[in-house]
Amino acid sequence: MKILITGGLGYIGSHVATVLIQNDIDTVLIDTLENSRIQVLEGIESITGKAPVFRKIDVGEEIEMNQLFEEFPDIGGVIHFAAYKSVGESVSQPLRYYNNNLGSLQQLLKYLIPNSIPLIFSSSCTVYGQSETLPIREDEQLKSATSPYGNTKKIGEQIILDCCKANPNFNAILLRYFNPIGAHSSAKIGEYPNGVPQNLVPFLTQTVKGLRPILKVFGYSYDTPDGTCIRDYIHVMDLAQAHVESLDYLLNNKNQETCEVYNVGTGKGVSVLELIKSFESATGKKVPFEISDPRPGDTIVAYADPSKIKLNIGWMANYSLEEALLSAWKWEEKINQ
Ligand code: WQD
Repeated sequence: MKILITGGLGYIGSHVATVLIQNDIDTVLIDTLENSRIQVLEGIESITGKAPVFRKIDVGEEIEMNQLFEEFPDIGGVIHFAAYKSVGESVSQPLRYYNNNLGSLQQLLKYLIPNSIPLIFSSSCTVYGQSETLPIREDEQLKSATSPYGNTKKIGEQIILDCCKANPNFNAILLRYFNPIGAHSSAKIGEYPNGVPQNLVPFLTQTVKGLRPILKVFGYSYDTPDGTCIRDYIHVMDLAQAHVESLDYLLNNKNQETCEVYNVGTGKGVSVLELIKSFESATGKKVPFEISDPRPGDTIVAYADPSKIKLNIGWMANYSLEEALLSAWKWEEKINQ
C-alpha cells in the first residue's frame, strides 16, 4: 500500500515524506515544482537512503490524476499539501487562489470518495482569525477568514466535512497547523522561501546571514506582555510526526467520526521579541532588528490547545523552540553559504 503526498516537494510535504519513508511507508510524491525545487528529492534520498517515487503532476488536472491512480492502484491514503499559501499574494490574486486551492481539492475528492481512500488535509490556524478564547480549541467558533488564502482553508475543511457526512466510507482528518518553523537536523531539506520571506523565521535567518539589512518587528504596542504578537511556533519535524501518527490512526480505523479536526501546535505562546532572544541564545548570533509599524491583518495572539490530538491520537510536540530555531539557522547557513 502506498501513501500519495501532494505538494510532496514543498516545505512541510518533504519533511512528512522523509519521516514516512523512515517508517518504511511507501510514498508517491507529486508536485508541480511551481513553488518547490527538484533538488528536494535528492535531500530526501540522502537522508532516507531511498529515492522516493516522484511525478510532476498538478492535482487539479483530471487526466493526469487518473493516469497516476492507474499507475499506482495501491494508493491507500493521501496527504494533501498542494496549495498556494501566501496570505499577501492571495489578497491581490483571490481568483487564482480559489481556483487552485479549491479546484485541486475537489479534483482529488472526485477520486478518493468513490474509492474510499482516506485523506489528511493540510489546514491552518488561520481559520480561527483572532480567537476569543486562548489557548485555541478546535470547537472555537470560526470567524470570517482574514484572507482569501485563509478562506480556501476554511472552505476546504467544509467541503471535506460535507463529503464525509454524505459518504460514510470516506474518512478524513483536518490538521490545523500553527506556525511551522525549522528544518531537518541534517540541513538536507528545509524551507525555500519564495522571494522576500513573509514569515518571521526565514526573514530573521536571512537577516542574520546578511541577506537583509534588518528585521522589522511588526508592532510593539499590542496588548501582550512585551507589546509584540504571540504565536505557537512548532518544529516542522514535530509537525511531520503528527502526520505519521494521524495516518496510522486513520488507516487503522481508530477514528470515532468520519471527519475529525485537530490543532497541531506546541500549546506555548511565544512573542516576536521572545523568539528573537531564543534564537540568539540558541545560536550565539545577534539579530539586528528595529521596531516597525504593525502589519495589517495580523492576529495579536494565537496558540493552540493541543490536548485533543494528544488524547485521541497520542501525539504531542517534543522539540524545544531553541532546537527549532537552531535547525532553521543551520539550514540558512547551508543554502546561503
Ligand atoms: C509571525 C509573527 C508577525 C515577519 C503565517 C501564515 C498563516 C499560517 C501561520 C499557513 C507575526 C511577525 C513577521 C517579519 C515580524 N501558515 N513578523 N516581522 O502571520 O502568524 O501566519 O503562518 O497556513 O497562514 O500567514 O506568521 O511568520 O508571518 O508572522 O514582526 O518580518 O511575526 O507580525 O506577529 P503568521 P508570520
